Amino acid sequence: MPASSETSHDLTLSGIRKQFITPGHEKVTALDGIDLAVEPGTLVSVIGSNGAGKSTMLSAIAGNLLVDSGRVLIRGEDVTAMPSWRRIQRVSRVRQNPQDNMASTLTIEENFALALAGKRGRFALRRPGRVKIREIAAEKLKPLGMGLEDRLSAVSGMLSGGQRQAIAVAMASLGSPAVLLLDEHVAALDPNSAARVHEVTERIVREQRITTLMVTHDMSHALEHADRLLMMHQGQIVLDLAGASLVGVTPRDLQERFAALSGGSLSDAALLSADPGPTKEQVIGRV
Ligand SMILES: Nc1ncnc2c1ncn2[C@@H]1O[C@H](COP(=O)(O)OP(=O)(O)OP(=O)(O)O)[C@@H](O)[C@H]1O
Ligand SMILES: [Mg+2]
Repeated sequence: MPASSETSHDLTLSGIRKQFITPGHEKVTALDGIDLAVEPGTLVSVIGSNGAGKSTMLSAIAGNLLVDSGRVLIRGEDVTAMPSWRRIQRVSRVRQNPQDNMASTLTIEENFALALAGKRGRFALRRPGRVKIREIAAEKLKPLGMGLEDRLSAVSGMLSGGQRQAIAVAMASLGSPAVLLLDEHVAALDPNSAARVHEVTERIVREQRITTLMVTHDMSHALEHADRLLMMHQGQIVLDLAGASLVGVTPRDLQERFAALSGGSLSDAALLSADPGPTKEQVIGRV
């Protein structure tokens, strides 16, 4: 029986390690002992420089790769050895590029049909009919306020990146997964669309209280939307802020913390965000 602290969390990672062997036979430690417990309904932002291990951590949770050691628990159930196709009812993932999240040659409605089929499992005896699928899709899309519920017959590839990513998040929320994984899901969008998709994402995860891990390089977004913020570096979680410790933290503070923790220069820290915003001294100087 799992301990009660594990059953009361939607997600528990303990001692996760993962090494890759490069084509040049070098060992890369992508995850170096990750311990994490996330309470239900928490929106966690995950930041860190390129190669820090963020996507590998999400893959370990989704089951897209098997870890070398450690355990992954979802709602107290040990899924460490469970393949990704069996985790699909527990975990949803939205990737950076819209074409990876849906079939561009299919309509919105057809993509919803596929997503629903995946969520229901291949052994589901009764599949929803077309009318029901349209009803479910419209019900999911209407609250986004983008008019997509009136375009269910539109071919997905003809939609903008922002529209497709908003649909991807809506589809990912089907069946109320225990954990939603967002891997830089707005990074390929222009700033206005990115802000819109963030807004839509937050609405969906808050309304459905879905435990969410959101990887982003945009520290303003990371701070604006999160209940908790993790910073990763060299396969480890080097900073974990929540509650009072997160209040009033600025992108600049994060860059400074990153520089201090990684022993890196500010130019390394700049990898975390294109625009860290003004320093406190600059703000004071403007007044
Ligand atoms: N399939 C793989 N084979 C070999 N090395 C890999 C593989 N996947 C990831 N790595 C290595 O593992 C480390 C962590 O990679 P990961 O993709 O998790 O980083 P990330 O934090 O998501 O970075 P980014 O911000 O660039 O997306 C990197 O050094 C990367 O090169
Ligand atoms: Mg990544």
